[in-house]
Amino acid sequence: MDKLKLGVLGSGSGSNMQSIVDAIEKGELDAEVKLVISDVKDAKILERAKKHSLKATYLDCAPFKTKLEGAAEERCIEMLKAEGVDTVVLAGFMRIVKKNLLEAFPNRVLNIHPSLLPAFPGVHSWEQALNYGCKVAGVTVHFVDAGTDTGPIIVQRAVPVLSGDTPESLHARIQVEEHIAYPEALKALSEGKLSIEGRKVVIAL
Ligand code: GRF
Repeated sequence: MDKLKLGVLGSGSGSNMQSIVDAIEKGELDAEVKLVISDVKDAKILERAKKHSLKATYLDCAPFKTKLEGAAEERCIEMLKAEGVDTVVLAGFMRIVKKNLLEAFPNRVLNIHPSLLPAFPGVHSWEQALNYGCKVAGVTVHFVDAGTDTGPIIVQRAVPVLSGDTPESLHARIQVEEHIAYPEALKALSEGKLSIEGRKVVIAL
């Protein structure tokens, strides 16, 4: 299999991107981060990328607030293609990605979501799980389809909810598992082990 050529989209801290970069640098994941794009000018993900000498850029996504569409979507696809990206990694990207991006990278857009999907799609999922009284929360890495947090599931990791958990403490423990789950999913993809059958991802052993 060819080395994955990753384009990472993120809006925040970028700790998931960091876990992917670390796995690459340790030789555990056969991939290369070709470009990091953020819709937030001063997002820490851009700083982290620059520390690793990765190409990183801000993308103004106006006039939209919650989706990547129109001129910004076009520009995003253009930049990713210009860098030879073959796999798009959403890592804390706080916008819905739309049809054109998905069609430009068919079955090659991945997302990480801080719940055991299909429970608690949308925002602040760990808090939703806590408020619901769940005893187990977790994280899901999935392929992105046209819905919100509905695409075929690649990896899930469970996290126990402890008595006395706050949204922050639970989210912090979920993030520890995120940093294992994303590199694991990408590794399986890089090794050609993933196939999509209907809504199921089959992982070859
Ligand atoms: C993570 O909790 C991820 O599951 C969610 O957004 C957060 C991003 O964190 N989609 P980071 O920017 O990777 O640190």
